[in-house]
Formats: sequence, structure tokens, C-alpha cells
Amino acid sequence: MAKAVEEGAKEVPNVEVSLKYHATPEELRSADAFIIGVPTYNHQMTLDIQSLLEKTAQKNANLQGKTTAAFGSYGWSGEAPKQVLEILRNKFKTKIIEPPILANYKPDEKILEKCRELGKHVAEVLV
Ligand SMILES: Cc1cc2nc3c(=O)[nH]c(=O)nc-3n(C[C@H](O)[C@H](O)[C@H](O)COP(=O)(O)O)c2cc1C
Repeated sequence: MAKAVEEGAKEVPNVEVSLKYHATPEELRSADAFIIGVPTYNHQMTLDIQSLLEKTAQKNANLQGKTTAAFGSYGWSGEAPKQVLEILRNKFKTKIIEPPILANYKPDEKILEKCRELGKHVAEVLV
């Protein structure tokens, strides 16, 4: 899903795109936009993303006005991408592109296309 989001974003000229498996608060702060991929475990976002958001808050990194979106695979409830967007909206005051893209366990071609569209859309907002 992340690679499809990246592909879509790279379709837009003059936008620098990078795919990170582990991001830092500094990387979020220095980007104009970011899209977080997160699966749902025990009805929550995964610990690495939780920790990223907590560290970002502790460092008072200013994300206000950045364009953000989320996606993720899930099994039966799939709350995590929505939780991430709520935190980005309420705590960090970012611009949210909705809805998050969800895949039930594995993305099929239709979902991958939605991921490409999401990446492209976020990149287009920037130019
Ligand atoms: C320990 C465990 C807990 C899970 N809890 C949830 C859950 O609460 N809600 C849900 O929708 N899926 C849940 N899942 C399913 C995962 O979200 C699903 O397998 C997802 O595709 C995992 O993505 P990943 O392979 O990128 O980690 C759980 C899976 C495991 C192994």
C-alpha cells in the first residue's frame, strides 16, 4: 500500500517523495505533507506510530497546516488510520485528506489504485 501511495505521489512533477519505514519527528516537521500507513492491532495504532506521535508532541514539533492522510490494512475493525487522523487534526492541527484507505488483510488492485490516487491527490495539493 505504501509503495502504491508513493507511486501516485511521484506522478506529480516537482514534488520530492520519500518512503520511510521508520519516520522521526524531524522528518515530519521538515516535510510539507506526510501520509501515515498503520495497521490496526488490538483496536489501536501500532506502537511505532504511537511513539512517533508522542515524540513529535514532546518535541513540540510544529506540524500545523501540513497536508496529511492515512491508510492501513486491518482484520476486523480497522480503527488505527482514523485514530491517527484524529490526533493529527486535534493535536497537531494538520490538514486532513479523508477518508483513510483501508485494506482488509491484503490490498487488491482496486485498493492499490485508491492508494495511488491518495498519493497523487496529496502531492497535487502541494503544487
Ligand atoms: C495480535 C493481533 C491483533 C490484531 N488486532 C486487530 C484489531 O483489533 N482490529 C483489526 O481490524 N485487526 C486486527 N488485527 C489484524 C491486523 O490488523 C491485520 O492482520 C493487518 O493486515 C496487519 O498488517 P501488517 O501485516 O502490516 O502488520 C490483529 C492482528 C494481530 C496479529
